[in-house]
Amino acid sequence: MDRYAHIIGWGMAAPSQVLTNEDLSRRVDTSDEWIISRTGIRERRIAAEDETTASLAVEAALSALDPTPLNPHDLDLIIVATSSPEHIFPATACIVQDRIGAVKAGAFDLSAACTGFIYALNLAAQAIRTGSIDNALVIGSETLSRFVNWEDRSTSILFGDGAGAFVLQGSDEPGGIYSCIMRSDGSGEALLTLPAGGSKLPASPLTVEKNLHTIRMNGREVFRFATRVMASSTREAAEKAGWEMTQVDLVIPHQANLRIIEAAARNLRMPMDRFVVNLDRYGNTSTASIPIAVCEALEQGRIQDGSRLVFVGFGAGLTWGALALEWVEPRVRIPPLRRRQRALLRFLASVRSFLRRIIRRIEGLIWGTSAQGKRRD
Ligand code: COA
Repeated sequence: MDRYAHIIGWGMAAPSQVLTNEDLSRRVDTSDEWIISRTGIRERRIAAEDETTASLAVEAALSALDPTPLNPHDLDLIIVATSSPEHIFPATACIVQDRIGAVKAGAFDLSAACTGFIYALNLAAQAIRTGSIDNALVIGSETLSRFVNWEDRSTSILFGDGAGAFVLQGSDEPGGIYSCIMRSDGSGEALLTLPAGGSKLPASPLTVEKNLHTIRMNGREVFRFATRVMASSTREAAEKAGWEMTQVDLVIPHQANLRIIEAAARNLRMPMDRFVVNLDRYGNTSTASIPIAVCEALEQGRIQDGSRLVFVGFGAGLTWGALALEWVEPRVRIPPLRRRQRALLRFLASVRSFLRRIIRRIEGLIWGTSAQGKRRD
């Protein structure tokens, strides 16, 4: 019997702090009019000091799990797609696993820049469709504001922070994720990059002095590349799913620039009302942009049972990709009252995490190593 991967839960997290174009024009030589006309962005959300990629991911994950019949311990896999991970290692996904108490889940991060959410969704769906796992949590989470050069007017206007998450479950009912294309072209590595902090250029006084820990971008080249791949990959994913473009109800594109989305719409000969656009309020939230746009489209009633959707994205790498799915309205939703049990489970997850850290410390004392891995004298 064929197996399908359905999205049964979705959630998002957006920091409350808003940075408007006016605010930016007080920092760098730009204007509200320039930013709107060249990008369509009006404002973006910026993480507060105590908000991180993991904390936003946890918030989005919990709200995605809330209405589903699943508890965190039912999850088999957690993938966090991110370009602004909590650390180089451990994976942000492991921090999410611990905070939500997903005790049986494998967890890893996926780095494919803004295309990461599409890649991650495809990998989780494939694992479900082969029967290898039943339930997966896929998150796109970013705090790119921490890597923006606030003096650089060509990049600081674009990015924002946020997270979005989907819960996927296996089903025998047709629908869910049907096809995906994943592409890359590393010859464009220099077009959009965060040069230092990796193994090639570890942090040093020089990298800090030269501001190499912030985003560098060739905007015009990225723009040209994006307009080239958006339409072709949308078409390819739809074809692979066996659909004509006229059968696609809604395209949910990566929210980078309104002009890029408009160019894709023109190339596909589709009206703009079949595209979801919310970049005016969030800017480019990288891996989080597609799931956040889906959450808002669902809230607005633009996605219904049976809707045929294409997600399409592009980003640093260069990477790009598109994924076609038929929306299946979740058959089971949990009433708010039962969700109170979840609050208890969350509390128990934090107790469990605390106890495991204590036990590890005690074991370290007994076996001769401290929690930091140093030998005891
Ligand atoms: N405010 C005012 N002027 C600005 C500006 C700003 N924020 N940023 C750039 N300019 C200036 C440039 O210095 C340039 O001036 P010049 O002609 O005197 O040299 C002029 O505006 C035009 O610059 P250009 O880079 O050609 O603008 P553009 O129309 O290509 O828009 C981007 C710039 C960055 C908005 C656009 O290239 C873009 O969106 N690219 C894709 C980026 C992207 O999506 N990245 C994320 C990928 S996931």
